[in-house]
Amino acid sequence: MSKVFIIGATGGVGSRLGPLLVGNGHSVSGLHRSPEQAEALSRAGVRPYLGDLMTMTAEDLAAALKGHDVIVFSAGAAGSGLERTTAIDGEGVTHTIAAAKSAGIKRVYLVSAFMDAARGGERKPGFEHYMSVKRASDNALVASGLDWVILRPGTLVSEDGNGRVSANLALPYGSVARGNVAAVLAALIDTPAIRREIIELTDGDRPVREAVQALVRRHE
Ligand SMILES: NC(=O)c1ccc[n+]([C@@H]2O[C@H](COP(=O)([O-])OP(=O)(O)OC[C@H]3O[C@@H](n4cnc5c(N)ncnc54)[C@H](OP(=O)(O)O)[C@@H]3O)[C@@H](O)[C@H]2O)c1
Repeated sequence: MSKVFIIGATGGVGSRLGPLLVGNGHSVSGLHRSPEQAEALSRAGVRPYLGDLMTMTAEDLAAALKGHDVIVFSAGAAGSGLERTTAIDGEGVTHTIAAAKSAGIKRVYLVSAFMDAARGGERKPGFEHYMSVKRASDNALVASGLDWVILRPGTLVSEDGNGRVSANLALPYGSVARGNVAAVLAALIDTPAIRREIIELTDGDRPVREAVQALVRRHE
């Protein structure tokens, strides 16, 4: 069983992931930025760790991550401005990579974005910035030498989901329930043979565990 630290533990994906991991027998901690969130995390079996990515240095993050062996990064600025997007979706990830290295943690799961999102629609500067920051974070993690997995979900919908997905190295663009994203992350964490992969994800018709098992490279 793993000691998992979730960055973004109170979000739509992260708040669903925590209880799933606890249910699977993992020990789970989660970053939260306001003190009132601690109680709900504790109720879900997640050890709360107070901190704000806007001010945390890589050293601060390394202190938070010490003693864990898996990191999930599912935080995001959620359209709250260009600077916050750079700081949270961008520097948040590069600080996490540096912190993982200094805390001796190899496994990092990053929730990124499906690069086809909003294609053909009106190009808004904030969205363009968000996508380029997400891409730069993916690039940094791929170059990190860590045992990363990058998950690129389609447009997120606030539902628990029906536990059925499409997950593959390339997929037609679509939407995906936040609960299904959490379930896929939980299954990936239980399948360490999948590493150094970029996986696209939408709702689909395959049960999550089966979809994840199909991604294990049999030739390795
Ligand atoms: N929206 C989409 O359609 C879409 C599509 C593909 C990928 N994604 C990505 O998927 C990921 C998860 O999405 P989601 O819907 O679960 O996001 P969400 O509900 O907006 O949650 C974001 C999480 O990040 C945390 N956070 C924000 N600012 C922070 C800060 N300064 N310090 C520490 N934590 C901070 C939030 O904490 P609080 O609870 O305190 O706000 C929350 O836990 C994000 O990276 C997002 O960019 C989104």
